[in-house]
Amino acid sequence: MTGDDQEEILIVEWDKRYSVGIPLIDEQHKALIQNANTLYQGCRAGGDDERTAYFNRAVKSVVDYVTYHFSAEEKMLERIRYPELQRHKKQHETFVQKLLDDVKEYGEGKKFVPNNFVRFLRDWILSHIAVEDTKYARYLMNLKKSGRLGEQLKRSEATA
Ligand SMILES: [Fe+2]
Repeated sequence: MTGDDQEEILIVEWDKRYSVGIPLIDEQHKALIQNANTLYQGCRAGGDDERTAYFNRAVKSVVDYVTYHFSAEEKMLERIRYPELQRHKKQHETFVQKLLDDVKEYGEGKKFVPNNFVRFLRDWILSHIAVEDTKYARYLMNLKKSGRLGEQLKRSEATA
């Protein structure tokens, strides 16, 4: 951050260290981060009504994108027969449920602090990438290195 007022204010910026080394997944993670930034900008702009309207729109696309990304990721993990898939899926589910619960409570008029919501979103995404996604990336890399990737894909096709 340069402190330039003209600059877009971001809550998080993509960094090489978030890369899991799988281009498709990295692209989707970048888009997730972009979503969090869009939401963050909405928390800062305009008056209360404007903010609420913006936030409601933006949050919907965040939830849609998160859901889309998780299902793409889970499909890939199924194909490579990732042994921790069920646990990983469970984490996705819990996270989506929390997002939906928060948004619902907000819609029902419960006091809601968009800023906190965006921070929660950012922190969850980054730590999930750093810990859980990195685990499957390592698993995939080992499959490739040991030459077992093709065999694993064939097995998953046979059981599909
Ligand atoms: Fe994940």
